[in-house]
Amino acid sequence: MNILSIESSCDDSSIALQSLDCKLLWHRKISQEYAHSCFGGVVPELASRLFARDLPHLLREFSKEYSLNDISAIAVTNEPGLATSLLEGVIMAKSLCISLGVPLIGINHLKGHIYSLFIGQQSIKMPLSVLLVSGGHTMIIECLNYKDMRIISSTLDDSFGECYDKAAKMLSLGYPGGMIIDSLAKEAYSSGINPISLPIPLANSQCLDFSFSGLKNAFRLVLQEQVKLQGIIHLHTKLLESVGKEMKKLDLSKARDSIDSYKESNKEINLIREQILSSKAAKALSLGLQQSAVKHLLQKCEKYLKDVPNIPYFAVVGGASTNSLLRKELASLAAKYNKELLLADIQYCSDNAAMIGRAAIAHIESSPNILNSFNVANSLGIDISPRNQEIQSNV
Ligand code: KG4
Ligand code: ZN
Repeated sequence: MNILSIESSCDDSSIALQSLDCKLLWHRKISQEYAHSCFGGVVPELASRLFARDLPHLLREFSKEYSLNDISAIAVTNEPGLATSLLEGVIMAKSLCISLGVPLIGINHLKGHIYSLFIGQQSIKMPLSVLLVSGGHTMIIECLNYKDMRIISSTLDDSFGECYDKAAKMLSLGYPGGMIIDSLAKEAYSSGINPISLPIPLANSQCLDFSFSGLKNAFRLVLQEQVKLQGIIHLHTKLLESVGKEMKKLDLSKARDSIDSYKESNKEINLIREQILSSKAAKALSLGLQQSAVKHLLQKCEKYLKDVPNIPYFAVVGGASTNSLLRKELASLAAKYNKELLLADIQYCSDNAAMIGRAAIAHIESSPNILNSFNVANSLGIDISPRNQEIQSNV
């Protein structure tokens, strides 16, 4: 029995096939990052047009290697995410469900990230405490099993990944910003550049919640004082705006790589971008942001871990869990509190369909009748929700 899974909650189109005993048989992903990068964030209409182009392309590639008749059930991300992105995957999943006559399972994207820890493995390590850090969420979640998960704390405003995205946008370095700021911070650290120190959010508060908007604002205020760097950023932003205007005119259906080749051919922009990337001020600020943002996550995780002696496993998941400093510091923190630290394979940290399929297997295990009592009306009744509804909050 094989599960076909589809992910389209934000800006990654992905399809996977997994056997019920957790073998990952097929998995591909097409990222839209490059297309959105000159807008400094995901443009919903562009995203849904790219899903309409890329998801059928992936399905065609898939059907060159596997017959659609090999599929016993379909899993699709139906919450949380951008409504117009979620709809694209859900519409494709419903069409397949009708034409193949197989059950459809809606999967919560956050649960998908949690199950990214167990891709390719049948055994699950729970009870588990999870720090989930992505572009849309920053949360501590306690997981007893697939059905029983609780949000312990979450962000009061921006997410961890979003803070990096907005910092990169202020530096005119494109979207997503996590990897860019992380590598600027690493360069600063290894070349002995002192960080421009920024405040650590909620450092004196007893709460377990997170907040990143004050830190983002502090970054903005310090950046405004960097007159020379601001001049380069201004010029780069103007050039990017003109690329954005040209991109809006491109016919996405004609050439798959039109956007990429358009940007690559623009040498002037690339040269100015290099100036920003090599600026000492940009590196010092990125290191300052990285140190404060990671310290904030660690302080809250430590406050939480002190009081949970009965949960043996601690994990970090989500696109931002690839952060170099975060991974290193969490390893020490987990050891201090005697927890086994679980990390997803780097290739499965950002959005992908393999994690959605792995969560679907856990869903089937927790409701085994789902495959036998298949009913088209129930499957087609699956709706999308931009907000997380499935995992309840503790408060
Ligand atoms: O989980 P994901 O792929 O998509 C969402 O569900 O949001 O996470 C993407 C987010 C983006 O905000 C990206 O900038 C951030 O993860 N990210 C990072 C790093 N790599 C990706 N943030 C901080 N440091 C990184 N190394
Ligand atoms: Zn995600």
